[in-house]
Amino acid sequence: MTKKVAIIIGSLRKESFNRKVAKEFMRVAPKGLELTIVEIGDLCMFSEDIENNPPQEWIDFKGKIVESDAILFISPEYNRTIPGVLKNAMEIGARPPKNNSWKGKPGAVVTVSSGAIGGLGANQTIRNAAVSLHIPMMQQPEAYIGGIKDRLLEDGITVNEKTEKFLKDFLEAFEKWINNLTD
Ligand code: FNR
Repeated sequence: MTKKVAIIIGSLRKESFNRKVAKEFMRVAPKGLELTIVEIGDLCMFSEDIENNPPQEWIDFKGKIVESDAILFISPEYNRTIPGVLKNAMEIGARPPKNNSWKGKPGAVVTVSSGAIGGLGANQTIRNAAVSLHIPMMQQPEAYIGGIKDRLLEDGITVNEKTEKFLKDFLEAFEKWINNLTD
């Protein structure tokens, strides 16, 4: 059975490298995985005051997470942690506690950066939050994709052969992780 994977991207930038990598993941995905980007840019800021009477965009977002079998976070690092827009989406998905949309969905994380460290801090921060979100996170392989500018071909869209293999291997492992944890 095909498993639905919701991709959550931690950057809203139009030319985002993380979005480019997300699209490359979609291009090389195995038949058993259906990858879809779930947008987070139109979610208003989280407040407990409205979590029991949420705006329609929160309801729609949570519905898309619930419909998915698994979650793939793809994010840059901002100031050694994660972008606020991603953290906001985590809160909205997780609340109220009796209605945690992330609960039990197998997850994986990829961080993408033009720098050498490949978003290590953000990657670890997402793993940290996943404990509370109740997302069983794939441990290996880890994916810190640094030097992204050098990994793109001249079209500025397609990743080079070595990176493509890395993406395919990552998804192969993630597919196994998902299938081990879901019916
Ligand atoms: C950054 N960037 C960055 N990079 C990094 O490796 N570690 C960091 O702590 C930060 N901090 C940071 C803060 C802010 C506010 C911005 C705007 C940027 C650089 C960042 O990783 C780079 O701009 C990425 O290209 C952003 O990802 P997208 O938008 O290309 O997907």
